[in-house]
Amino acid sequence: MNTDCRSTTDLPISLATAMAECYPNEMGSPVPPIYQTSLFTFKSYDELVSRFREEIDHPFYSRIDNPTVREFERLFAKAEGADCAAGFASGIAAVAGAILSVVKQSDRIICVRNIYPDTYRLLERVMTAFGVTTTYHSAAELENNPSIYDGVKLVVLESPVSVTFDVVDITKVVAHAKAHGAKTMIDNSWATPVNQLPLRHGIDLVVHSASKYISGHSDTVAGVVSGSHAAMQTVINTIVPLFGAKLGPLDAWLLVRGLRTLDLRMERHGKSAALIAERLANHALIQKVNFAKAGSTPTLHGSSGLLSFELSEKGDIRSFCNAFEIVRLGVSWGGFETIMFPTKAGLQQKSERNSLDEFGVSENLVRLSVGLENVEELWADIAQALSKSRL
Ligand SMILES: Cc1ncc(COP(=O)(O)O)c(C=O)c1O
Repeated sequence: MNTDCRSTTDLPISLATAMAECYPNEMGSPVPPIYQTSLFTFKSYDELVSRFREEIDHPFYSRIDNPTVREFERLFAKAEGADCAAGFASGIAAVAGAILSVVKQSDRIICVRNIYPDTYRLLERVMTAFGVTTTYHSAAELENNPSIYDGVKLVVLESPVSVTFDVVDITKVVAHAKAHGAKTMIDNSWATPVNQLPLRHGIDLVVHSASKYISGHSDTVAGVVSGSHAAMQTVINTIVPLFGAKLGPLDAWLLVRGLRTLDLRMERHGKSAALIAERLANHALIQKVNFAKAGSTPTLHGSSGLLSFELSEKGDIRSFCNAFEIVRLGVSWGGFETIMFPTKAGLQQKSERNSLDEFGVSENLVRLSVGLENVEELWADIAQALSKSRL
């Protein structure tokens, strides 16, 4: 599979311009077709044999390779500054695929605290079955305590982290990891390539839930892993074909469309969220706002639309949630629509302890994914809901 995406021009190309690149084809169609097919046929026995010997670059089965998916991978790798990318059927499949490409039985992982709850569950409920153990550390410990890296195979980062949006200095973590021979991966879903390019700072593998900002339209569940040719070898040659969670062609097509407007959307999400974060911070019923700003760590160049805040004891979460007229309640984030998620609801999940319990998130914490609506209308909705939440 040829997923080499290095730029062929010497001009300095911005992300917005790179994502406007048309699909390379003889018909001049700017948009790729959707190859909604499971398999590809061959003209002759000899052509089939050549494909199996990898003498020709011809897709043969969509679990492994599909031209529409390949176009998404090509464009996405450009965005992330990677040699290549691999599309997955979900963000959590991308996270699992990246982890499985690095660790073996009985290896040790260190992971940032407050990691996305299902990544935590994957580490605690799946990886432990293979003797792979994980310890969780604050950003300060990861940055300043090299002894925690002793004997570690993989460092799992998210920055900013889910729900609390603390940032981690990637450059410090990479330096410690390299000194200890450990590999590094980061979930970059919050920042997107518009606001943070972790590969430039020495991270080995970057993963995304493409269901969030990469799609941007809340219409697909998808994931992607990217990195250098060397770092991606096991992902592409072993995990993609044998893990069996390849991105589908229709989803890839939606993601290509999402990439076209990513830069523009992130600017709007970031600006609106900054304004709302500022107003929340000055509101009498709010005791704390968590919002990662550009420059809050050296590698973060901009903000996204995702923030959280804590209602003071003078406000009631239930009345607050029920008072909204524009903002909707739900999980997920990164779409065109503003979504709110009260962690109090997440803490009542039946299954078993989740990372919200483990890391001690306040019951009054609310996560807000600020969408693309008019920001003044959004604020009016939030303000009226806050006034109705007063006890
Ligand atoms: C930070 C983060 N990473 C990964 C995921 C998993 O992605 P998906 O839902 O696409 O499997 C999510 C989903 O909410 C997330 O918030």
